[in-house]
Amino acid sequence: MGDSSSIAAPSTNRLEGKVAIITGGASGIGESTTHLFWKNGAKIVIADIQDELGQAISDKLGENVCYIHCNVSHEEEVINLVNTTIGKFGHLDIMFNNAGIMDRLLGSILDTTKSDLERVLRVNVVGSFLGAKHAAKVMVPQRNGCILFTASACASIAGKDPRQPCLKLVTINFT
Ligand SMILES: NC(=O)c1ccc[n+]([C@@H]2O[C@H](COP(=O)([O-])OP(=O)(O)OC[C@H]3O[C@@H](n4cnc5c(N)ncnc54)[C@H](O)[C@@H]3O)[C@@H](O)[C@H]2O)c1
Repeated sequence: MGDSSSIAAPSTNRLEGKVAIITGGASGIGESTTHLFWKNGAKIVIADIQDELGQAISDKLGENVCYIHCNVSHEEEVINLVNTTIGKFGHLDIMFNNAGIMDRLLGSILDTTKSDLERVLRVNVVGSFLGAKHAAKVMVPQRNGCILFTASACASIAGKDPRQPCLKLVTINFT
């Protein structure tokens, strides 16, 4: 996923002049989005807690991509993320609230502990809320911007893990 080895330079300019924050941008869907946005000419801030992976992607893609450590469930880190992005690139056009944890399937609501639920809630819901809130504080005055979330088909399908449907349903309702 997200291999940029065959990409010498941005191939299209659909996002030229745009500045994007991608939370959870160091791996998976976020990493692929980082490469896609970069190919389309955006300037990108990867926000993640996997520092080595995030910094390596930034180093590979060059000056239009930087990495900032940000645990999305900590409000002061999200504020720092947005402020640092504005300081470096001048504005913020796209906030992609993608960071999330899925980890082990618990099997049944009977096996799910309160602390299990709260841990996922802090990242998948509170993290998305904080990202949207602090991006909107910048975007509303500039009357421009796009706030995205990664949700899940699980939000509308009953599954084995009771956490994902309810939490991703909340995320959908942020939109
Ligand atoms: N992979 C799937 O099948 C699937 C299905 C539905 C929804 N999703 C959602 O897609 C999103 C991306 O998941 P993925 O499949 O790419 O998984 P992934 O684990 O590869 O990527 C998630 C990224 O989020 C980062 N992250 C985790 N906690 C964080 C935190 N507190 N602060 C900042 N970053 C944090 C991780 O370090 C990782 O880089 C998640 O929101 C997930 O719930 C995934």
